[in-house]
Amino acid sequence: MFSTFCRRVAPGALALALLAASAHGAETIRQWQFAPKGESLELALREVQAPTPAANEVAVRVRAVSLNRRDLMMVEGRYGRGGTQPNTVPLSDGAGEVVAVGANVTRFKVGDRVAGIFFEDWLDGAPTAASLASARGGNAGGMLSELVVTDAEGLVSIPAHLTYEEAATLPCAGVTAWVGLFKRGGLQAGHYVLLEGTGGVSVFGLQLAAAAGAKPIITSSSDAKLARARELGAFGTVNYRSNPEWQNEVRALTGGAGVDQVLEVGGQDTLPRALQALAFGGHVAIIGGLSGFASDVPVGTLMGLNATASGIYVGSRADFEALNAFLAKHEIKPIVDKVFDLEDAPAAFAAMDSGDFFGKVVIRL
Ligand SMILES: NC(=O)c1ccc[n+]([C@@H]2O[C@H](COP(=O)([O-])OP(=O)(O)OC[C@H]3O[C@@H](n4cnc5c(N)ncnc54)[C@H](OP(=O)(O)O)[C@@H]3O)[C@@H](O)[C@H]2O)c1
Repeated sequence: MFSTFCRRVAPGALALALLAASAHGAETIRQWQFAPKGESLELALREVQAPTPAANEVAVRVRAVSLNRRDLMMVEGRYGRGGTQPNTVPLSDGAGEVVAVGANVTRFKVGDRVAGIFFEDWLDGAPTAASLASARGGNAGGMLSELVVTDAEGLVSIPAHLTYEEAATLPCAGVTAWVGLFKRGGLQAGHYVLLEGTGGVSVFGLQLAAAAGAKPIITSSSDAKLARARELGAFGTVNYRSNPEWQNEVRALTGGAGVDQVLEVGGQDTLPRALQALAFGGHVAIIGGLSGFASDVPVGTLMGLNATASGIYVGSRADFEALNAFLAKHEIKPIVDKVFDLEDAPAAFAAMDSGDFFGKVVIRL
């Protein structure tokens, strides 16, 4: 509901230009914050002092950010242990231009086009408790800010063929789809891939699988969205609303063999059905809980199918860079369905909440 995210605009904030000099001579920027509202949170647009980079840091003029399901959970205080800390900045995903670098930074220079990595401190290999604690948005600081200062290691260059709005969609949904399909799933040309719904992760999965020569099969509650999915290369489409036993149709589309890969974003309502559509030796990337997170491990089914299931939590900087190389090679453009202005950030949250979008919702700054 739009009212869930109602904003409080700092007096005069809308009239402020980026880095405008305040009455005291300090430079200010605008950023949205999770502001306390009774026992819960709301979005508030605030004017704050512009941060400056330390020796190992970079200042990025953020040009676009994108929303993920977790951002809704954050404003509702339902994300992570202990909920979201008040007066922190929302959103993990953003892209922009380097405008200043610290004295020790060699990785980037002013003018470079960059995106923040989802976990500022997870660069490669397996994650650690510390690197997972560096997830941007909310408790670790987010991208919904005209200017962001971050460790230079926590950024990647963005592919030349992408706009800032397109690149802003990559850090969470894009990397998650990449890791689920390629790193964990070992996607091969010819694989049947099941994608659930037409949100951010699933549409990335569709585009990546199609580009790899696989056969993506995607579900949706909307026939119009399924038509869009076919234009993006879907091999098969199934309406899960008009066909509640959709897993049977998915299996039929594979000639009865079942799907080799699943990006499992639906959770408790979809996991049991996805497993019914899974091929022997298949892989299920456990990603989401759109219908509530599934809590039981289906031991018998996985053993009987000789299948594997992987828990996925986005990925590292190295994963992001591998995704970017693939996007550049295949000239894949992420699907930006709706774009909002900075002042209208609450409307972007409401659009995400409504489900009335295909792919990604973006805010430009
Ligand atoms: N583990 C991780 O690292 C990770 C990373 C990213 C996301 N996630 C999680 O993965 C899930 C998907 O994230 P997202 O950002 O892609 O979501 P999203 O963009 O908000 O996806 C929304 C779409 O999902 C579809 N959907 C909703 N309920 C469904 C259901 N019961 N069955 C099938 N499809 C359903 C709908 O598609 P239609 O309108 O086409 O019906 C809806 O429009 C969320 O739970 C999110 O928290 C986890």
